Amino acid sequence: MKRVAVLTSGGDAPGMNAAVRAIVRSGVARGWAMFGVRLGYAGLLGGDLVELGPRDVGGIIQRGGTFLGSSRCFEMHTDVGLQRAVDVLQRRGITGLIVIGGDGSQAGAFALSRKGVEVVGVASTIDNDLPCTDVSIGTTTAIDIALEAIDRLRTTAASHQRAFLLEVMGRNSGYLGLIAGIAGGAEAIVIPEVPTDPEMLGAELRACRERGKQHAIVVVAEGAAFNAQMLAHYFSEHHARLGFDLRVTQLGHVQRGGNPGVFDRMLATRLGAGAVDRLGAGEHGVMMGFLGGKIVATPLSQVTSGKRVLDAELLALAKVLAH
Ligand code: F6P
Repeated sequence: MKRVAVLTSGGDAPGMNAAVRAIVRSGVARGWAMFGVRLGYAGLLGGDLVELGPRDVGGIIQRGGTFLGSSRCFEMHTDVGLQRAVDVLQRRGITGLIVIGGDGSQAGAFALSRKGVEVVGVASTIDNDLPCTDVSIGTTTAIDIALEAIDRLRTTAASHQRAFLLEVMGRNSGYLGLIAGIAGGAEAIVIPEVPTDPEMLGAELRACRERGKQHAIVVVAEGAAFNAQMLAHYFSEHHARLGFDLRVTQLGHVQRGGNPGVFDRMLATRLGAGAVDRLGAGEHGVMMGFLGGKIVATPLSQVTSGKRVLDAELLALAKVLAH
């Protein structure tokens, strides 16, 4: 009988619980023993594994975060840490491991698979910066949260004829900022992929004013060369260059919290079940992603060496629509 463990790793994302639920129930349906690892790779290194049955994953499909807990585990970057993980899995008789997480987590999965562990990854990060998947678990819910913030800010921005800088997460990626900016009708978008200095942004906002706009929303990705704090500091000293009174909102971890929407529940369910299917077929060393509307397994070697780039057409469209 297969004994398969699942862990959630890195930043939590809405939909992780739905993925664990699908994995546990799909595995049990095949007659496998399923285990949950508490607190991600850190829990794995500490041997913190618990057997999970279908009832243990009841009532969680709608819950944000991860009931297993998560961590950022720097020991997994070391040979000693990796070997400890392999030893724990061997000692507990685990024959397969499913890793739900973003780029750091998939790098850990790849390192374990190179040590002979049968690993399957599941793409999960609000940042949507993983290659080999169009979208990762948690991304669309996180964008919806940014949109709600934009919609709310717009009412007060319009009332006071102000500009608002809304900082969104995304680490080094501008994906969340770009999509939230387009879908929220932002007047300007500041993301790491497009160098924007305060002077350029000031010129854009002044031009908005001249075109008759009475307020402005600027979505700023946290990873941009000038983040919201830096931009606000600059404009506090060069107010005339802006044309608007300015306020700043940093969305922060609010963006990662809350319940997954339908897309993330379905994506997580399908990727989780897909991971079990792959292990059942004897396939491992791959990450489950969603490509062209299909659940697809891509070798972890390709995932960890690839780089995701933003869609140039969307970048151009954002500029046009800000008019
Ligand atoms: O990777 C997800 C993410 O939320 C990033 O957008 C953000 O930069 C980072 O995690 C925050 O990490 P932490 O929760 O460890 O502060």
